[in-house]
Amino acid sequence: MSNSPMSSTHDVLAHGTHTQDRFQWRDTGLGFSPVTISLHWIVAALVLAIIGIEIALVASPNVELARVLNLLGAILFPISAYRFWARVTSWHPLPLGTPNPVEVIVSRSVATALALAMVLLPVAAWLAKSAAGQLVELPGGWIIPSPMHPNAQAAQVFDVLFKIGVTPFVLGLALHIFGACKNHFVLKNDALKRMLGKRVEL
Ligand code: HEM
Repeated sequence: MSNSPMSSTHDVLAHGTHTQDRFQWRDTGLGFSPVTISLHWIVAALVLAIIGIEIALVASPNVELARVLNLLGAILFPISAYRFWARVTSWHPLPLGTPNPVEVIVSRSVATALALAMVLLPVAAWLAKSAAGQLVELPGGWIIPSPMHPNAQAAQVFDVLFKIGVTPFVLGLALHIFGACKNHFVLKNDALKRMLGKRVEL
């Protein structure tokens, strides 16, 4: 399957119609698959929980909460790896209404960058902690093995890379949520409802 810019709207619709009678594992030109929708909201819940826990840990450090944070990051990584692969190898459903093409390109690029960030940031956090000689502990006494020996210089590099990644990620997420709210409350289209599973006629 391809997202080739040369593909016509007719191709997208024909492909979508073709897969409508079977369980839709992958996104088509007509809509998101139930798999994409479920994983999107699971990832959103994980990310919002991680951000909440990070803020709570800055306010008052807590070992048990830090372990829960590590567990959420460990769950997020494989789901995000699949989601990023599925995003770049599937059709992105056609936009609703008559949107500005620049907005469509920006919103899709931001969404894909968010999906990629969800793969890279947990790895950067794991490498930064490992290089700093910190154990990545999980609830129940489990430990995620460290891929390297402690190394102060490497720890600094991974820490800087993580912080460089987090800032555009938070800005991108704010823009993404702003876009969803604008579509829902200002443009009053079904973009958010489609992401909540509503079947939308194009
Ligand atoms: C409350 C939070 C969120 C809201 C309200 C929201 C809303 C939406 C909506 C309405 C769409 C459909 C856009 C379209 O029609 O093209 C979408 C797609 C998408 N969103 Fe979100 N989103 C949220 C959080 C997140 C988070 C945390 C991530 C990743 C870190 C994310 C990544 C994506 C991606 C990659 C897509 C494209 C479809 C896919 O492959 O899943 N979103 N989002």
